[in-house]
Amino acid sequence: MCLKGKTIGIAFTGSFCTYAKAFEQLAILAQTDAEIQTIFSNASQSFDSRFGKAEDFIKRAEEITQHPPILTIPDAEPIGPSGCLDLLVILPCTGNTIAKLANGITDSPVLMAAKAHLRNEKPLLLSVSTNDALGMNMKNIGLLMNTKNIYFVPFGQDNPAKKPNSMTARTDLLLPSIVAALNGRQYQPVIQ
Ligand SMILES: Cc1cc2nc3c(=O)[nH]c(=O)nc-3n(C[C@H](O)[C@H](O)[C@H](O)COP(=O)(O)O)c2cc1C
Repeated sequence: MCLKGKTIGIAFTGSFCTYAKAFEQLAILAQTDAEIQTIFSNASQSFDSRFGKAEDFIKRAEEITQHPPILTIPDAEPIGPSGCLDLLVILPCTGNTIAKLANGITDSPVLMAAKAHLRNEKPLLLSVSTNDALGMNMKNIGLLMNTKNIYFVPFGQDNPAKKPNSMTARTDLLLPSIVAALNGRQYQPVIQ
């Protein structure tokens, strides 16, 4: 897939169970011609869990992209004035980050990057992964779906029997979703 000349931000938030799939997609994206800049939320750069250690994820991101990740709000802020990204993907995007984004809160490097990037009227792509997508966060997802320049990696219920409010993105559809968002379109069908 030709993404030559494109610079893509990949922002990690704290849905740690999704990291295996997210890093798989990061490696695939790195094989395209795109430049990639990763960004880590406070949770994603500091919580160790059964899914791995935060410092190992940061190291892996740098190895794959050949760029040090952005880890602070001051380092994310220049994304606005420099206009350095063509597209920003939040992969994975937690319920916490969805709720804050929908309400204009900017208290993590990822939210700062999103705010700075949206100021430039460029596409923001969300790859949601949250247990409360059909619960407390449904209103926020609805609000973001109806917001200019925001797109979604197609998503659906991952375990309706045991986690009826949970929805996760089809990360395997990341690349076509990126291409669509770069062309100002939502990849369809968005609910799968
Ligand atoms: C092991 C573990 C797994 C988690 N998985 C998820 C998840 O899949 N989705 C989610 O929305 N939050 C999840 N969380 C909670 C978030 O990490 C937490 O809400 C955090 O404040 C998110 O901050 P961020 O959105 O700035 O990264 C998880 C937390 C832990 C410790």
